[in-house]
Amino acid sequence: MGLRITGLDIGRDSAELVWEDGRRGEYHFIWLRDNCGCPECRHPITLERTFDLLGVPQDIRPDSAEITNEGDLRITWPGGHVSAYPSSWLRETCYSGDIAVEHPPRHLWDAGLTDHVPEAFHDRMASDDRAFLDWLAALQAWGITLVRNMPDDPHAASAVAERIGFLRQTNFGTEWNVVSMPNPNSNAYTALPLNCHTDLPYWEVPPGYQFLHCLTNEAEGGESVLVDGFRVAEELRKTDPAAFDLLMQVPLYCHFRDDDHDIRYRVPAIRLGPDGAVTEVRFSIAVMGTLNVPGHLMAAVYGAHRKFAALLRDPRFEVRFRLNPGDMMVFDNRRVLHGRTAFDAATGHRRLRGIYVDHDILDSRIRVLRQALEGERLRA
Ligand code: OGA
Ligand code: ZN
Ligand code: ZN
Repeated sequence: MGLRITGLDIGRDSAELVWEDGRRGEYHFIWLRDNCGCPECRHPITLERTFDLLGVPQDIRPDSAEITNEGDLRITWPGGHVSAYPSSWLRETCYSGDIAVEHPPRHLWDAGLTDHVPEAFHDRMASDDRAFLDWLAALQAWGITLVRNMPDDPHAASAVAERIGFLRQTNFGTEWNVVSMPNPNSNAYTALPLNCHTDLPYWEVPPGYQFLHCLTNEAEGGESVLVDGFRVAEELRKTDPAAFDLLMQVPLYCHFRDDDHDIRYRVPAIRLGPDGAVTEVRFSIAVMGTLNVPGHLMAAVYGAHRKFAALLRDPRFEVRFRLNPGDMMVFDNRRVLHGRTAFDAATGHRRLRGIYVDHDILDSRIRVLRQALEGERLRA
């Protein structure tokens, strides 16, 4: 039971509603007609629209509109079709005032997060949907989490991911081992240090979340480093807006090659959403292709790229820790950059198990779990 509608004012191409708490909302008739939720207009099982927008005129107006005894809206359209709109649904979808974009909370961080990385415990998550949802929500908001007490099983990471949805397949397969190996097809598969980077920036859509489960870490070195790319991009926007604009406007070039693949993509390093907030950072010096930007921009693009790279290495923004067997770090690969210090393979074995899961399926799991646990309605 939501707030009741108490006032209704019919205008030329829209109706204004007033709720009992005084809030007002404008609803265009074409929008209302398009969003009729009756079984004739929306398939009751697939929930997809069956109503044909082109079957009604753009300037459609109701024959009559009324507030029901329950405080909902009811409209009769020309031809006799009747639409009923629950007040709670109208309130939820109201587009007057603040634009109704779904924005999950997002917390930017810097080195101050070092001892406060959100943590979850595998056993609790495995047996409790609420704990699992809390973990997913923390991951979505912070872009980084540590899962402790993972089973000593190379498939433990994928078992967690399968509870979210399906795994992302890439040129590294579905599950991969981060170990130092002969004939590596990535610097990750050596003992070299890795500067902070996002993985697979040469894909049109890089994987959304990365899971790195530590199975063995006996070698000297091999400390993990993580940086919030959104935080650092904001720092660049503040301290060098021209460099920020270049990285947002000029497509860089990312390139992966091995015996079987030649994957390339041109895209700016920083992308913004319609509200100006940073929505994606792609950055990997290791797989940066040969730049091909207009000559008059080349020096400035390198300048901006170096500036961003330097900020990404600034200890003010770095979170560092050592992964121990049983730890799994999970982070947003289109936001948080990760790297490691060099390790000495002669001193012991180091093995991480990696997988990826896309944003869409994780966001979806959060909504479905919330609906199940909190009774939150799914929006049609
Ligand atoms: C990777 C990677 C980090 C590490 O495999 O993509 O960056 O700690 N690994 O080995
Ligand atoms: Zn209908
Ligand atoms: Zn990586």
